[in-house]
Amino acid sequence: MSQLAKPLAPAPTNLVGPTELPKGDSLFEQFDWLYILCREKLFRNDTRRMVKVFWPNTRPPSNSRLVELGCGPGFYSRTLARSFPELEVLGVDKSCRQVEYAEQKAIALGVNNCRFERGDVLDVTRPAQSFDYLIASRLFTVLPGPERALAEMFRVLKSGGRCFIAEPRYKFWASIPLFMLWLVASVSGQANGCREPSKATVFSRERFERLFHTQPWKSVRVWREGRYHYALCEKR
Ligand SMILES: C[S@@+](CC[C@H](N)C(=O)[O-])C[C@H]1O[C@@H](n2cnc3c(N)ncnc32)[C@H](O)[C@@H]1O
Repeated sequence: MSQLAKPLAPAPTNLVGPTELPKGDSLFEQFDWLYILCREKLFRNDTRRMVKVFWPNTRPPSNSRLVELGCGPGFYSRTLARSFPELEVLGVDKSCRQVEYAEQKAIALGVNNCRFERGDVLDVTRPAQSFDYLIASRLFTVLPGPERALAEMFRVLKSGGRCFIAEPRYKFWASIPLFMLWLVASVSGQANGCREPSKATVFSRERFERLFHTQPWKSVRVWREGRYHYALCEKR
């Protein structure tokens, strides 16, 4: 049986289908193409960093499970799944269109060990201890309630599981994609009702470190490289 045919967990029940999505809900939904362009062509690619921290000089154990929360167009999920066929990858995002793009792109590239679904990172529809690895990139820039998201990250990781977080450090740079999304929305008269902030949230070093101490990790390593903060946490 292929990994895709094998469900990761019971089917989620609180997902909203594309037809039920309110128009104007999210800039990532309305102008998916613009964010996809930024993600695929402009942003930093942290794939090598993820590989280095999770599997230094080795490969993931067979059938290990990785989840990406706030996966957007699925760049990291797809890239990691493609590099490591032994991984079973799930990408979760609130935006239907980002998820649809992620799915189509993975299919077009013949990457069949990753799946994508619409869901809320503040209420992940998976039982506790479902995943061996978790990644989240640039998620907290637009997410109210990072502590709640972190509690969900902790919950869905297995004992011994690890999570890697990448967040931009500078408001100016981090806000450019949002600025572009709002600009296009305003020019095209479609800005009403979108929930995203006009500027990205970025954390100070202290705030970023404090966030990880809200959960009883076995170990937390926080560091900075260039314009990004990173964190690697391991669950007891
Ligand atoms: C700045 S983008 C980052 C996307 C991707 N991780 C990357 O590195 O480019 C933030 C993503 O988080 C998603 N998002 C925001 N709030 C969310 C929530 N509560 N649950 C799931 N996804 C959410 C947005 O739809 C968007 O795709």
